[in-house]
Amino acid sequence: MTKYLVTGATGQLGQLVLNALSEKKILNSDIAVLVRRADAAAELKSKGYDVRMGDYSDADKLAAAFAGIERLLLISGSEVGERLPQHFNVIAGAKEAGVKYIVYTSLLKATSSKIGLAPEHVGTEEAITGSGLDYTFLRNGWYAENYLMALPQILELGQHFGAAGDAKFAPATRADLAEAAAVVLTGEGHEGKTYELAGDYSFTYADYADTIAELSGKQIAYVDMPEAAFKDALTGAGLPEPLAALLSNADAVAAEGWLFDDSKTLSRLIGHPTTPIKEVLQAAMAN
Ligand SMILES: NC(=O)c1ccc[n+]([C@@H]2O[C@H](COP(=O)([O-])OP(=O)(O)OC[C@H]3O[C@@H](n4cnc5c(N)ncnc54)[C@H](OP(=O)(O)O)[C@@H]3O)[C@@H](O)[C@H]2O)c1
Repeated sequence: MTKYLVTGATGQLGQLVLNALSEKKILNSDIAVLVRRADAAAELKSKGYDVRMGDYSDADKLAAAFAGIERLLLISGSEVGERLPQHFNVIAGAKEAGVKYIVYTSLLKATSSKIGLAPEHVGTEEAITGSGLDYTFLRNGWYAENYLMALPQILELGQHFGAAGDAKFAPATRADLAEAAAVVLTGEGHEGKTYELAGDYSFTYADYADTIAELSGKQIAYVDMPEAAFKDALTGAGLPEPLAALLSNADAVAAEGWLFDDSKTLSRLIGHPTTPIKEVLQAAMAN
């Protein structure tokens, strides 16, 4: 009987969770994955995973997809605005199928955070606690990889634009967060816990610009802008309006600490220091 199920296993975090489970010597055949696309299902099946077809939106099929599963990792969905009903479906399906334990990838400081994504995560956490299932909340901070999106422009222009002033950021790589998810999913004693997960090292945007300057040998300046102007700059660069609004607002409220945490909970969970942003940048610039 397959004990573990990972949702979002075709995504960037989910793939790394599968790698981390493999590092823990969990056999692929002992891991079920929830998949909504036939091509991805075939690929995962060929690697020996127990593939269960299902979509977070398809409430009727989820309980059957979770049959026999004891411990389930729910990786939050990617369709912002649709996620509450989707996650409710997953939780209800898990309960109906007799899943005992659900691990959910939430947002750093979700219950107090002013980041626009927080309400969907809080609503999901509440539904999980209300379900009566054992649970752990992995409140993931921003991925370090998010900061790479603008790297080509920063290198080209010699300027890093943002609206965060001297706010501190403590992102973590997807790989480190995935490792924590594997530790919790397969470990004991995490029930009822909420983990605030961020990198060990923090930086301001000025520090970030300095690190890129050091690695590239170019002059890089951080240019701080008001939130509205930064949003316009992001839409001007081709980002969809809702994403530009989300990112510029996240910058504007970051000074209140919503993307920073110095508890070192993540490095304690994974048993080693988290990956510094300099290493993440070095790897990206080497490609
Ligand atoms: N902390 C951060 O900085 C940050 C940044 C971005 C996103 N996130 C959140 O963290 C999650 C994982 O991040 P990621 O980088 O791995 O995202 P990703 O690469 O976009 O992967 C999302 C995964 O969720 C699956 N999924 C989405 N909607 C689904 C649905 N309705 N039914 C079944 N599966 C569904 C996707 O399946 P398909 O392959 O079929 O699309 C994919 O496997 C995201 O979904 C989002 O909630 C966090």
